[in-house]
Amino acid sequence: MEHFKALWTIEQEDGSFDTSLQELSTDVLGSHEVLVQVVYSSLNYKDALSAHGHRGITQQFPHIPGIDAAGIVLHDAIGQFQSGDQVIVTGFDLGMNTHGGLSEFIRVPASWIVPLPTNLSLKRSMQIGTAGLTAGMAVLALQQNQIFPESGEIFVTGASGGVGMCVIKLLHHLGYQVVALSGKPDLTETLMTIGASRVIDRFEFMSEKPRTLYPMTFAGGIDTVGGDVLVKLMKSLKFASSVAVCGMAGGVDLPLQVYPFILRGARMLGIYSADSPWEKKKEIWQLYANEWNYELDSITETISLAEAPDKLNLMVEGRSHGRYLVQILD
Ligand SMILES: NC(=O)c1ccc[n+]([C@@H]2O[C@H](COP(=O)([O-])OP(=O)(O)OC[C@H]3O[C@@H](n4cnc5c(N)ncnc54)[C@H](OP(=O)(O)O)[C@@H]3O)[C@@H](O)[C@H]2O)c1
Repeated sequence: MEHFKALWTIEQEDGSFDTSLQELSTDVLGSHEVLVQVVYSSLNYKDALSAHGHRGITQQFPHIPGIDAAGIVLHDAIGQFQSGDQVIVTGFDLGMNTHGGLSEFIRVPASWIVPLPTNLSLKRSMQIGTAGLTAGMAVLALQQNQIFPESGEIFVTGASGGVGMCVIKLLHHLGYQVVALSGKPDLTETLMTIGASRVIDRFEFMSEKPRTLYPMTFAGGIDTVGGDVLVKLMKSLKFASSVAVCGMAGGVDLPLQVYPFILRGARMLGIYSADSPWEKKKEIWQLYANEWNYELDSITETISLAEAPDKLNLMVEGRSHGRYLVQILD
C-alpha cells in the first residue's frame, strides 16, 4: 500500500481553508506504532472546526480531520495488538494534530486504542462516536450527583445536534423526562419521537426578559451550547440540581452571577471526553455494548467520505442534525 484516500484540509493562498477527498502517500501518516484500516468514522463539531482551519483544534495544515475511527489493526510495531483485531479510537490527539479518522488508514499510539467490546459492532461504535461517549459521560456525571429519573425534568440544549440527540436517546432509555431546547422548529416531531417529552423553541426561550433567577423548573441539564443559553439554564434549576457542561456551539462566555450556586445549591459539572482516561472510555463502550444497547438508526445518516465535506459545512453553520456515520470500507 503506497497510497490511500482521505479528507485533506489545506490552507489556501488567501488564508481560507478547503477540505476535499484526496489520494495521499502513506508517508504522511507518520510513525506511531499501530496501523489501522478504518472501516467507519463519524462527524463531530470538532471535525467541522478543524476542517475550517480553527487553530484552537489544529495548528498544522495540511491535515486529515476526524476525531473518531473504528477499524481493523493491520500492524502493531510493539505487538500489543494482533493483525485483524477490531478496535475503536476516539479523541486524545486523533484528528487534532495527529492525522484523523476521515481516512482509509490511521497510525496511532497503542495507548489510544480500545478493543471493540463483544456485542458492539464497528458500525454501532461509530454511530455512537465521540458524541455518544460524551453523552454517556454527562449522564453518568448527573447520576453521580444524585440526579435520577424521579428528580424531575432534564433540560438538553443543542438538542438536534449529534451530542444532543445521543443525550436524548440515552436519558429516555434510562427513564428520564427530557425537555429539549432546539433552534430548529421543523425537528420538533423528530425530537419527540426519539425521546423528548417536550420541546422548547430556542428563540422563544431566549426572548424572555433577563432576570436574576427564573422559576425553579429543571432537576438537571446537559448543555452543548454554552453562552447565554447555559446562563438561563443555570438560573432555571430546582434546588441542588446539576448541569453537565459539554459544549460551546453557541458561545464561550458565561456572564453569570453567583446566585444559582449560593441560593439554589446549583452545580456545574465539566465534561471533556477526548482526554478522559482510557479506562473511562472503556467503561462507557461496555455500557453501550450491554445495558445501553438501544437502537441508533433513527438518529444516524450514513454517508461516504466524499459527502463529508458538505456535511462539515452544514455543521459549522449550525444547520446539521443528528449523527453522521461515515462508511469508509464496504
Ligand atoms: N466536552 C466534550 O467532550 C465534547 C464532546 C463532543 C462535542 N463537544 C461539543 O459539544 C458541542 C456540540 O457538538 P456536536 O458534535 O453535537 O455538534 P452539532 O452536531 O453541530 O450540534 C450542535 C447543536 O448546537 C445548536 N447550536 C448551533 N449553533 C448554535 C448557536 N449559535 N446558539 C445556540 N445553539 C446552537 C444546534 O442545535 P439546535 O438547532 O437543536 O438548537 C446544533 O445542532 C460542540 O461545541 C462540541 O465541540 C464537546
